[in-house]
Amino acid sequence: MKIIKSLCLATTMAAVMAVSAGLAFPIVQDEETAKPKPAETTTAADDQFVPVDNMHHFMEYICEPSYKALKEIMLKEPEDRRGWKAFKNHALVLAETSALVASRGPKDDEEQSKQWHQISLDVHQTATALYKAAGNFEEATRQYGLMIANCNKCHTVFAESKHQLKK
Ligand code: HEC
Repeated sequence: MKIIKSLCLATTMAAVMAVSAGLAFPIVQDEETAKPKPAETTTAADDQFVPVDNMHHFMEYICEPSYKALKEIMLKEPEDRRGWKAFKNHALVLAETSALVASRGPKDDEEQSKQWHQISLDVHQTATALYKAAGNFEEATRQYGLMIANCNKCHTVFAESKHQLKK
C-alpha cells in the first residue's frame, strides 16, 4: 500500500515538475522569439483581412444585437455612467462596422456599387454623430432617428424593402 502511495506521489510530482517546466505556460518565450519581427520579414498584408461570413450574418450577428440594445436604451434617458456606457458600446459598434459594410457592396455594377457606398457613408456619419452625442439625450435621439432612416434606406434598395427597422 505504502509503495503504491509513494508511486502515486512520484507520478504527481513528475507531472507538477513537467508543468512548471513550461508545458502549462506555452506563451512564455525567450527574449529572442518574443521580439516583434522587423517589418520586412512580416507577411501580413491588407488583403488578408477578408470577410468572415456573408452579409446576412454580418447584419444578424453584428448590427441586429446593437440595434436592439440601442432601441431599448433610447426609450428613456440613461440615468448614470453605466447607462451611457452601454449606449456608447452599441453606437460605436454600428459606427465602426459601417466602414466594413461599405467595402462589401456589389462589385459588378458601378451604379449600385456607388449607391451602396453612399448609403454606408450616410450610416457611418449619423452613427458617428450618435456615438458623439453620448450624455446629450436630445441630440442622441435625433441622431438615432437619422441613423435608422439610413439603415432602412439600404434595406429598401438592396434588401427588397425588407427589414424596415423601427426607431
Ligand atoms: C449598405 C447596405 C446596408 C446598410 C448600410 C445596412 N444594412 Fe442591414 N442589411 C443589408 C442587407 C443587404 C440585408 C439583407 C441580408 C440578407 O438577408 O441577405 C440587411 C439585413 C439587416 C437585418 C436583418 C438581419 C436578419 O437576421 O434577417 C438587420 C437587423 C439589419 N440589416 C440591421 C441594420 C442596421 C441596424 C443598420 C444600420 C446601423 C444596417 N442594417 C445598415 C444591408 C445594409
